[in-house]
Amino acid sequence: MELQRLYPRPGTTTPAELISRLDLGSRAPAGRPYLVLNMVSTLDGKAALQGHTRDLGGEADRQLFHNLRTQADALMVGAGTVRAERYGRAIKSEELREKRTEDGLDPDPLMVIVSGRLDLPADLPVLQDPDSRVVIATAAGHELGGTRAQIEYLRTGDDLPLLLARLREEKGVRSVLCEGGPTLNAHLLAANLVDELFMSVSPKLVGGKDALTIVAGRPLLDPAEAELLWLLKGDGDLFSRWRIHGV
Ligand SMILES: NC(=O)c1ccc[n+]([C@@H]2O[C@H](COP(=O)([O-])OP(=O)(O)OC[C@H]3O[C@@H](n4cnc5c(N)ncnc54)[C@H](OP(=O)(O)O)[C@@H]3O)[C@@H](O)[C@H]2O)c1
Repeated sequence: MELQRLYPRPGTTTPAELISRLDLGSRAPAGRPYLVLNMVSTLDGKAALQGHTRDLGGEADRQLFHNLRTQADALMVGAGTVRAERYGRAIKSEELREKRTEDGLDPDPLMVIVSGRLDLPADLPVLQDPDSRVVIATAAGHELGGTRAQIEYLRTGDDLPLLLARLREEKGVRSVLCEGGPTLNAHLLAANLVDELFMSVSPKLVGGKDALTIVAGRPLLDPAEAELLWLLKGDGDLFSRWRIHGV
């Protein structure tokens, strides 16, 4: 799968080459991990089709998505997304696990599920996978029954700065890849916790006035500013990497 790099330094590359040795953890500020969002939207800015992302991106997007998962200590996701997308084990092949170890990371990332109410079906594939290490950050007091993953509960309520501080301090997490969804993104941006955004744009127009965009919830009091770091094209999609400047 070839990608055309448009900015900076026009040329060609591949998803595996592009998304290697990003060394995100070395950029971690004091007291929390470096946090990178990865999202996809249509040309008209919509973030889901019939409640899912699976028909949004093409093959290049799929490969970039899986390569990005090789670059962070932890993979974070909101309860709505984990339910809608039926998350399973994060790293899908031995080859990708080897890539993580070559890049100095554990073979599998720590999976962090943010769920205030802890309303998660126990039959989610990731919760049934004994090889998955999962932290569930929640305001609820109970535990899920009938799960097989290695689960730990962090009772951090809705306090995302506290969650990130505890991930760094107690779990040694220096980099987090967050795959949304839009509600969790809104909370992270409002708390000034987002350092970068990887954004794929799929060449589709889908309409729908109430359709989700990549950031939901209340408007941000101060818009977050972004600076373009990369722009690429591949398989009909556009791929970009942005530095987010907090307010
Ligand atoms: N286009 C993309 O790249 C992309 C990426 C991801 C998801 N999606 C789509 O987005 C949809 C799901 O998005 P969503 O916005 O409904 O869900 P979401 O952001 O994945 O999850 C929302 C839930 O996360 C928990 N949460 C969020 N912030 C919290 C906080 N500060 N403290 C505690 N809990 C918190 C809450 O869980 P509780 O309800 O348990 O309290 C909340 O209801 C799906 O259709 C999915 O396909 C699109």
